[in-house]
Amino acid sequence: MTDQYAQTREDNRPAGTPAVRWEEPPEGPVLVFLDQTRLPAEEVELVCTDASALVEAIRSLAVRGAPLLGIAGAYGVALAAARGFDVDEAARALANARPTAVNLSVGVRRAQSAYQAALAGTGDVRRAASAALAAARRMHQEDAQASARMAAHGLALLDELQPGGGHRILTHCNTGALMSGGEGTALAVALAAHRAGRLRRLWVDETRPLFQGARLTAYEAARTGMPYTLLTDNAAGSLFAAGEVDAVLIGADRIAADGSVANKVGSYPLAVLARYHHVPFIVVAPVTTVDPDTPDGAAIEIEQRPGYEVTEIIAPQVPVTGAGGGIPVAPLGTQAYNPAFDVTPPELVTAIVTEEGTVSPVTAGALAELCARSRRT
Ligand code: MRU
Repeated sequence: MTDQYAQTREDNRPAGTPAVRWEEPPEGPVLVFLDQTRLPAEEVELVCTDASALVEAIRSLAVRGAPLLGIAGAYGVALAAARGFDVDEAARALANARPTAVNLSVGVRRAQSAYQAALAGTGDVRRAASAALAAARRMHQEDAQASARMAAHGLALLDELQPGGGHRILTHCNTGALMSGGEGTALAVALAAHRAGRLRRLWVDETRPLFQGARLTAYEAARTGMPYTLLTDNAAGSLFAAGEVDAVLIGADRIAADGSVANKVGSYPLAVLARYHHVPFIVVAPVTTVDPDTPDGAAIEIEQRPGYEVTEIIAPQVPVTGAGGGIPVAPLGTQAYNPAFDVTPPELVTAIVTEEGTVSPVTAGALAELCARSRRT
């Protein structure tokens, strides 16, 4: 099989460009993101001057992926504080922008608590705003460190499961540097395998309906030189049947206390396929994605997205024709079922890899111990 992706435009972003930047031009502080809805056709930066612009960017998925949502949420609170907006109101709007990824509310809470504590201690709103920004910067940095540690733990696990390397990894959605303070979660593990000369193939699910795999993971794989092949989500079954997959590596948007994993819709069918074919199903996520307050999978709120994402092809380089700005592929008025995520039960998850180490088998006790360890460090 041959890889077909060809980069058709000059790629000017230097390697290592952060997924989010805090800038302070004379007009006041801003947050700068790469607009992920425009990739891979164009690299367009999005400049948010207030929290409501950031809320809109998060809803439209211009800014997306659980770790980045956490970092963005924290910076969003800092932005509201620095520009003199109502911080609690901004925090509420940001935390509610999308419901499933727990990292978003964790990030918002961290910056908001830093702001409130500094305000209570000093009574000075400028100092409180600086405290919120420091908390956001800390979170950004911690996520980069967590990413590197997840990559190392994940590669060690792959090598243990399949000594000698030559890993053929199937991944779903996008879990790379575009959505992280560092190089990502599951994709960072694949990249570590690639750098170690032990990635034989990265299988990239296109990830309908919004093509985060085709648009974003393929973009990142091409930029980093990974040997990758794109497939439709429906083709995964035949790939397993052909014995072409050694491990599934995915990220997570929320991990419940019992180890249930909410991730991009289409992850659960992969877990079922992996179990049937005796292939390890590995989840890579920072400890901030584990939510001890969500007892099990049934308690995870699953975001429902507009039907037009299913009845139309929404892609950045197509002409605007349908209600959602995409090309209609279903008869007018067709109803659609469009959950953004699904939940994989813990018994189908071989291992959860975090920056604090790997949990396998996945049990409530082992996860609770992991969270306790992380609080201590
Ligand atoms: O709806 P998105 O694009 O924000 O999807 C979230 C995700 O990126 C995936 O579910 C991902 O696998 C987990 S986040 C590392």
